[in-house]
Amino acid sequence: DKGNHRHFMQKEIYEQPIVVAQTLRSYLRRIDDQVSLPVPDFDLSAIRRVTIVACGTSFYAGMVAKYWFEQFARVPVDLDVASEFRYRAPVMEDGGLALFISQSGETADTLAALRHARAEGQKIAVVVNVPTSSMAREADLLLPTHAGPEIGVASTKAFTCQLAVLAALAANFARAKGRLTPEDEKAIVGHLAEAPAAMNQALAQDEAIQALAPLIAPARDVLYLGRGTDYPLALEGALKLKEISYIHAEGYAAGEMKHGPIALIDEAVPVIVIAPSGPLFEKTVSNMQEVQARGGKVVLISDEEGIEAAGEGCLATLALPKVHPLIAPMVYAVPVQLLAYHVAVLKGTDVDQPRNLAKSVTVE
Ligand code: F6R
Repeated sequence: DKGNHRHFMQKEIYEQPIVVAQTLRSYLRRIDDQVSLPVPDFDLSAIRRVTIVACGTSFYAGMVAKYWFEQFARVPVDLDVASEFRYRAPVMEDGGLALFISQSGETADTLAALRHARAEGQKIAVVVNVPTSSMAREADLLLPTHAGPEIGVASTKAFTCQLAVLAALAANFARAKGRLTPEDEKAIVGHLAEAPAAMNQALAQDEAIQALAPLIAPARDVLYLGRGTDYPLALEGALKLKEISYIHAEGYAAGEMKHGPIALIDEAVPVIVIAPSGPLFEKTVSNMQEVQARGGKVVLISDEEGIEAAGEGCLATLALPKVHPLIAPMVYAVPVQLLAYHVAVLKGTDVDQPRNLAKSVTVE
């Protein structure tokens, strides 16, 4: 049932504050401000290396998690798409942790990668939305997302719920590694608890986002730029746009522009820059200015502070609430999803059932 929404995708985008809150409730203990994960039958503090494997949007959640695991737990992370991981003879030392992320829990390549990692002596952690799925059954450490059934083929609420679980796992990992003071943990729990409200504020920008759709819909190509954890968000934005609007879109690490993609820039290629104010902001803005200097039309997604500092000369800007960097990926996912959605609606494509795509990819 779509309720009063036109598409399942729209409904699922709008459900995110609720389902992220629901997911966080099972991983955060507010009484003593601690993250609380199911206790695995192995010692998390002994894990020396993590291998993250997933496909598509779930892979981008894994990419964000790599930044977090390295930053908070100082644990080295290997990251790969399942279809590559399986065939590249990856080196997995005994006692490593392999982490699989999947909405459906049935994606053939991810499941095969899981079995391969188990055979290589890895502990298996799974972040999955379907609790009865194959991946859920085969996990040593099962970390469910509580997004509820996701019907729209383009993944939205599963992604933000994955991020919520992965942030909690990163904090838990950091604590196990002796790298998190109770004060730091309390702060992390506090930031995560703010995510649903901030996502609501992002949703409140829907009209402004819809107003951007006519700027994007006529384009043949669209670029998305981001840095740090906004880089996977840029990739996710491009994936959402291409899969439901059929516009060619690519995401790049902002700093990579001048190593090639900037050759594509002209006034016909909109460039969506995802850049919350913060330590990486200046760097991303200088990449954005390189684009503008070549006639590129920029849509800057930031907060008031960022737009104040760098919004001039942009084709359009979109102001989100100013949030802690830990929850920014969850909050910035919202405009990126809504933009793809409105462009697709404007183009009249089948938003919930885009051509050539299946909800669960059970072939390799
Ligand atoms: C994109 C999308 C796909 C899935 C991918 C993995 O919107 O839905 O890229 O993310 O097929 O699926 P799961 O997460 O079920 O393993």
